[in-house]
Amino acid sequence: LDASGVRVFDLDIQAGRTEFKDGPATDTWGINGTYLGPTIRAGRGEAIAFAIRNDLDQATSVHWHGMHLPAVMDGGPHQSIAPGDIWTPQWTVDQPAATLWYHPHLHGKTADHLYRGLTGMFIVDDEEAGALHLPSSYGVDDVPMIVQDRTFNGDHQFEASSPLGGSLGVIGDEILVNGTLGPYFDVTTRLVRLRLLNGSNARLYHFGFSDDRPFSLIATDGGLLPEAWETDRLLLSPGERAEIIVAFTPGETVDLRSYQSEHGGALGRFDGFADRLDICRFRAAATLADETEIPAVMGSAPDLDGAEAARERSFVLESDAINDQPMDLGRIDFGVREGALEVWEVRNGNGFVHNFHVHDVQFQVLTVDGETPPPHLRGRKDTVLLIPDRRYRLAMRFSDYTDPNLPYMYHCHVLQHEDEGMMGQFVVL
Ligand code: C2O
Ligand code: CU
Ligand code: CU
Repeated sequence: LDASGVRVFDLDIQAGRTEFKDGPATDTWGINGTYLGPTIRAGRGEAIAFAIRNDLDQATSVHWHGMHLPAVMDGGPHQSIAPGDIWTPQWTVDQPAATLWYHPHLHGKTADHLYRGLTGMFIVDDEEAGALHLPSSYGVDDVPMIVQDRTFNGDHQFEASSPLGGSLGVIGDEILVNGTLGPYFDVTTRLVRLRLLNGSNARLYHFGFSDDRPFSLIATDGGLLPEAWETDRLLLSPGERAEIIVAFTPGETVDLRSYQSEHGGALGRFDGFADRLDICRFRAAATLADETEIPAVMGSAPDLDGAEAARERSFVLESDAINDQPMDLGRIDFGVREGALEVWEVRNGNGFVHNFHVHDVQFQVLTVDGETPPPHLRGRKDTVLLIPDRRYRLAMRFSDYTDPNLPYMYHCHVLQHEDEGMMGQFVVL
């Protein structure tokens, strides 16, 4: 805390070397370390500030993905931090408890900077969530899992080239969870909450357990669902988060995996959709503590009424552009009115893998092709996978912060697509 009661976080972005395997270390980037960054945690209503020092030899930025905050604090391509500089954003957290994250967003460099290791989790807490008896001991029964794919070359350096025939950019063949290869977790409680972040540049994960056991989805990008949804598979595209609760029995071992997904499109095989990957092994102790539960009612459902929209817009993602316009840092695509409800209809126009992320806001998926969205899309979202040719109607309201000059971004979170121009900018007026 500083003198005025603001909580201050010091972050130092640095280059280093990380030993993922025996043998030569890998050149990596990290925040307060050589790979990834610390989990940041703040409560709703809390005033927070950062001193972020860039010790790299090139500019970068730090974007707060999923956070509601002023555009000047957003950390997008207009807030780059020059080498040696310190960036000091601050704002008051005001949104429901959720699993958010942070990462660089320098235009044209986002894929490279994330792949080198600049990624961290940002957990928002609030009183309502804190009053529930959900698993919430960090690292014990409430476990962040930053899931990433990497390819190592013969010298153990990250290989960043794309597979031949792939349409997504780099797809790795080895999995890191929180920067660890071949990870396992020693389970000591019956219920374990996993905060899953797809922190990969391009790969989709179709999560499931090796024995196909059901698990409960309790939260999506922007917070808790009204009630848990039981499933045995969950698809997460880059940038999406999910909180799940899994029940274990004493003494067992089970693996979290990623399974083949049907949403691969024509080139799916080259884009990793046919891969079955081991993500993490869970080893349960002989006796398990049992003090938490999945409450019948957890959060509130977003309930925006599309009929009240002040404005509708449509977006088609194809050919490294949105609505045929490739990203241009000097062009503001549109302005939205502060406080007004907007409905954005978004479509993947070319059948490749795209998703759609909007800064500053959590949106509600009203319909997918006119139908009520599936349970995993009924909560607060900031990133949604666009299955080719389906129409996603997203309702959102931009509130509190206006800035006529500094924009927020919307884009595909497949990072190569974003870097190549599948991104646009809007201001809130
Ligand atoms: Cu996760 Cu525009 O970013
Ligand atoms: Cu973002
Ligand atoms: Cu895309």
